[in-house]
Amino acid sequence: MRTCFLYKVLLRLYYQRALKSNYDKLKGDFIVSKNFGSKPYLFPMPTYMIGTYNEDNTPDVMMMAWGGICAEDMVALNLEADHKTVANLKSRKAFTLAIPGADTIKESDYLGIVSSNKVANKFKNSGLSYIESQLVDAPIIVQYPVTLECEVVEMQQQPYGLRVLGKIVNVRADDKVLDANGNIDVAKINAFVFDQVKYGYYSIGEKIGQAWHSGADLLKNK
Ligand SMILES: Cc1cc2nc3c(=O)[nH]c(=O)nc-3n(C[C@H](O)[C@H](O)[C@H](O)COP(=O)(O)O)c2cc1C
Repeated sequence: MRTCFLYKVLLRLYYQRALKSNYDKLKGDFIVSKNFGSKPYLFPMPTYMIGTYNEDNTPDVMMMAWGGICAEDMVALNLEADHKTVANLKSRKAFTLAIPGADTIKESDYLGIVSSNKVANKFKNSGLSYIESQLVDAPIIVQYPVTLECEVVEMQQQPYGLRVLGKIVNVRADDKVLDANGNIDVAKINAFVFDQVKYGYYSIGEKIGQAWHSGADLLKNK
């Protein structure tokens, strides 16, 4: 009994000091966890591609993970102010936001590494192609299966960074990602997500539930 107590105390000290971990007690069991402090650790993070026009009308496209839907017809982009994309957003007041498929992981990652501020041929070098949106002043990248065509509504320079709010004017989807009823079948997009902790890309697995239904059984608990 005494040895067991001593063992637990030593184990607790080990976790707390060596691994900087918590050693909490719940109904006689010990729960070990670790604190990482203030970090941007959410998983999954999305991978989206922002498309804009440079001043010479060539496209610029950048990878974005810090953003997404923020209202029924709005998206929020959290951007570093010195990106070429930001200058383009200021001058053209429009952009496209596309969901890349895993088949373009190489090109899409490249577009997240290189800036049009430094490489004039950035988009051309990616090997991707584009057509002009008929609705907003921004390019649609042909290889991306789903594209939101957006207008800039607001650029908010906040103490913690620049946030761009965009209104979704239209969602354009390739025929190849539609189901028999003409709806977008997300499984066909073959999207991938970003890991903010170790910077990995992960494919998205199979469907495992139905929103607003998977938890419905628990509604009977009073
Ligand atoms: C996985 C990934 C996610 C990224 N997410 C963002 C983001 O959310 N916001 C941002 O400002 N930059 C982000 N970047 C960096 C830009 O894509 C990168 O700096 C790009 O070169 C900017 O291009 P531009 O200067 O031509 O606009 C991300 C890059 C990668 C690879």
